[in-house]
Amino acid sequence: MIDKIKEIQEMMEGELAGAVSNEQLGELKVKYLGKKGLITDLSKSLGKMAPEDRPRMGQLVNELRVTLDGALEQKSRELAAAAEAARLAAETLDVTLPGKATKLGTKHPLTLVVDQIKDIFLGMGYMIEEGPQVELDYYNFERLNLPADHPARDMQDSFYIDAQRLLRSQTSPVQARTMDRVCPQTPIKIISPGAVYRRDDDATHSPMFHQVEGLVVDEGISLADLKGTLLNFVRQMFGEDREIRLRPSFFPFTEPSVEVDISCMLCGGEGCRTCKDTGWIEILGAGVVHPRVLEMSGYDPEKVTGFAFGFGVERIAMLKYGIDDLRVMFENDVRFLQKF
Ligand code: DAH
Repeated sequence: MIDKIKEIQEMMEGELAGAVSNEQLGELKVKYLGKKGLITDLSKSLGKMAPEDRPRMGQLVNELRVTLDGALEQKSRELAAAAEAARLAAETLDVTLPGKATKLGTKHPLTLVVDQIKDIFLGMGYMIEEGPQVELDYYNFERLNLPADHPARDMQDSFYIDAQRLLRSQTSPVQARTMDRVCPQTPIKIISPGAVYRRDDDATHSPMFHQVEGLVVDEGISLADLKGTLLNFVRQMFGEDREIRLRPSFFPFTEPSVEVDISCMLCGGEGCRTCKDTGWIEILGAGVVHPRVLEMSGYDPEKVTGFAFGFGVERIAMLKYGIDDLRVMFENDVRFLQKF
């Protein structure tokens, strides 16, 4: 028996050393450890041995099995390592080839301007509020005190979806939505940036553009607060030496209403093409929130007052970056976009 074991072991070692593929290793496994394998046969023959020899022989056969198992595994690892080494040796890497640079985009000028506007107002303690672009006629007009015959309510001027809904023509409906949600709490201090839609299309008007709405509601809010807030905003946006002026105007949802101009940043007030020789540039509409508008949300206009303002983001961007045609903002020409 011992001779048989030795013989098998030697044969096994020889064959193992000569194996060059995983298939060969598989065949060896079957040959020695399979159902009819040589080592399996040895185990079976133990039964026919004298009982006193069995334990020792059993142990030898078992050691043989363990040795083969380990050797097969070791060999398999060696083969894999050799294959990997061969693959790496065959692979050539040309480090002189030019790299593929990933092109990094830039923020759109409108995004830059909106980011800056948000920063300025967040710095003054405002929160940012969003409203739906598909808006109810009720919020877009009714709740802003717009009379039934107002021109914006005409199909010619706004994009209607059905009798009750339209693409909002202004961000002002967010005023009413916010007040509805918050009432009776005060204070409210929000801005609401977003897209708005009107049936306009020329060098200074696009059917889709962006506005930022502002609303402050609290006890004792006056036109003076509005003026101070806007002056602060304008100076952070366009430079410390800007001035503003308020001209009387009309909006159905504010009383009094004003149009706000800033002193021209190009000529400093002397008069130039941009300010049409007036020294002033109109940038926004604003006013003291109309008592009716407060009432419709449930606020008592005897107790709280507010101011509101709204301006066009494209117009701010055009003034800030000296862009003279609004349409370039939406053409996505990289030569334009790369400048920012
Ligand atoms: N919604 C107005 C517009 O689109 C702008 C505006 C004017 C907003 C006065 C206001 C405001 O909040 O008080 O023309």
